[in-house]
Amino acid sequence: MLHAQSLTLTRDRREILSDITLTAHPGEVTVIIGPNGAGKSTLLAALTGDLSPDHGSIHLNGDALHSLSPRALAARRAVLTQHTPVAFPFTVAELIRLGIEATPGPIPPGLTDRLLSEVDLPGMAHRPYHALSGGEAQRVHFARILAQARRATTAQGPVWLFLDEPVSSLDIAHQLMVMHRARRFATEGGGVIAVLHDLNLTAMVADRVLLLSQGCLLASGTPDDVLTDDLLTRAYRCPIRTRRSPDQGAWLLPQMAGT
Ligand SMILES: Nc1ncnc2c1ncn2[C@@H]1O[C@H](COP(=O)(O)OP(=O)(O)OP(=O)(O)O)[C@@H](O)[C@H]1O
Ligand SMILES: [Mg+2]
Repeated sequence: MLHAQSLTLTRDRREILSDITLTAHPGEVTVIIGPNGAGKSTLLAALTGDLSPDHGSIHLNGDALHSLSPRALAARRAVLTQHTPVAFPFTVAELIRLGIEATPGPIPPGLTDRLLSEVDLPGMAHRPYHALSGGEAQRVHFARILAQARRATTAQGPVWLFLDEPVSSLDIAHQLMVMHRARRFATEGGGVIAVLHDLNLTAMVADRVLLLSQGCLLASGTPDDVLTDDLLTRAYRCPIRTRRSPDQGAWLLPQMAGT
């Protein structure tokens, strides 16, 4: 389980996260939504241990996050950040190897090729990373953190994936592919926390939704609890109304009121 209690984080004398308490469970996909600047990436960075909150505590699988060494953290969780600069002229295979080498133990033969097939990039291992399209590069990074997560130990409890806008450069088919893969990771016992902007995708894949607004947790619960006209309109400060398809209860695109 991941539990954060009363997180507060201030930058330049501005409170970016205000008194946030949340719980996420392994076996579930937890999605963080909210407008630009709401604090989603900051919250995710705090939950991964990459940023220290000014106040509050975070426990991952029962241990205080601040008590874990970088190596212990790498064995429990893998992080896909919103921006992933790559300074060196790596090939795709070399980049994925960085994820594999974040955790100890022998490297299973064929792992890189298997992971590349999983993200629909078969045969791309020797391509220069910098020559990839935006969507291809994003899927390589997803494969890299899958590699890390796959080799992480489960001795200290479930392994967690933290994904900050993992589908922002992807076409619809690859968005679904990546989020279905994340869901499978959860179904197999891992924990997944993802930041998404697409509310339809959120409704489709989330077990639990956290809605952030101006650094505060405006709502949390099931998609039905959180993706309401009232809460979305308040959070995004624009009139939104949602519609569901009558047959499956699936969500359709939020409609701007009056359109
Ligand atoms: N190091 C920093 N110093 C000062 N302000 C910061 C810092 N990092 C983030 N902020 C501010 O904190 C707020 C939250 O930033 P954050 O990146 O968490 O937003 P976000 O919800 O992820 O937005 P987006 O949807 O645009 O990615 C923003 O107003 C941002 O400008
Ligand atoms: Mg962000």
